Amino acid sequence: MTDRIEIRRPDDWHLHVRDGAMLKATLPLSAGVFGRAIIMPNLKPPVRTLADLRDYRKRIAAALPAGSSFRPLMTLYLTEDTDAGDIRAGALSGELTAVKLYPAGATTNSDSGVRDLERVENVLEAMQDADVPLLVHGEVTDPDVDIFDREAVFIERVLDPLRRRYPALRVVLEHITTSEGAGYVMSNAGRLAATITPHHLMINRTDIFRGGIRPHLYCLPVAKREKHRLALRRAATSGADCFFLGTDSAPHPVHEKESDCGCAGVFCAPVAMACVAQVFDEEDALDRLEGFASRHGPAFYGLPVNDDTIWLERKSPEESAFRDVETEAKERVRVFRPDAGLHWSVADR
Ligand code: DOR
Ligand code: ZN
Repeated sequence: MTDRIEIRRPDDWHLHVRDGAMLKATLPLSAGVFGRAIIMPNLKPPVRTLADLRDYRKRIAAALPAGSSFRPLMTLYLTEDTDAGDIRAGALSGELTAVKLYPAGATTNSDSGVRDLERVENVLEAMQDADVPLLVHGEVTDPDVDIFDREAVFIERVLDPLRRRYPALRVVLEHITTSEGAGYVMSNAGRLAATITPHHLMINRTDIFRGGIRPHLYCLPVAKREKHRLALRRAATSGADCFFLGTDSAPHPVHEKESDCGCAGVFCAPVAMACVAQVFDEEDALDRLEGFASRHGPAFYGLPVNDDTIWLERKSPEESAFRDVETEAKERVRVFRPDAGLHWSVADR
């Protein structure tokens, strides 16, 4: 039995760090473990322009602990007014890593997202030309489509036609939750990849209702049936380089999660690597963990693997790993805690 493993420092290919006091409280928890992270642009208001992106990157740099070598990889939020000139300039200067597509209304702060893809054709063409990846929140917003079917329907109605129209565009289907998502990405790998979250590897939709309604397990795309969770585990541990870690760690104040209309998002950053180590251990695939967490992402984005390493070890993490994070504004954020407990943690060294 392996009790301790060393892997190249991992990256997080999908992360929400918000702004202000929340940024200050949550960013160090990612920066202590991950080398880089793709920073989601769904602020209020969103990161729409290159000027917004530069300002946000400065606020992130200011929130990093002294001496941190963590690198935020910045994204723009695609709107029907996005300027193709910003895409070309951002790609050329290296400031822009990717562009995020939120179908309008699909999730948290997506109201400024895209209603009609035909209105962003010039931007998608510029992205294809400059080889800037499109990161996709893959759910249809048609109210007639059942929430548990929204990812599968999106692939058929939106993603597949989009990829045919822009065959050279690199696309990441973010936080996949279904066997359809994993299967589609696997059979179209190359210019298409997918991120998978720690929590979607650990919970299914029944867990959200285990013993009562569990608002802190609610995120979008919502967790699906057990057979889908198992398909995600097979994909993540398969060794296929089209699958990599994106935590989708999405902090919200406890009072906004526990309300009449609780918002979507699981805050998993503090335990993300412990969770994935545990999943890979359970699947007898610890030898493939480094690929999923540290190698496949950089390969897709054309970046080098991180120079240094981290150690993971089998042990019960101290209770502190799960303690609510409190911001300077006295808002609390609940950390993801799998019911079955966690038996791995990131070692101090
Ligand atoms: O659960 C989610 N939370 N899904 C998303 O797509 C957005 C995220 C957030 O920003 O809170
Ligand atoms: Zn997200």
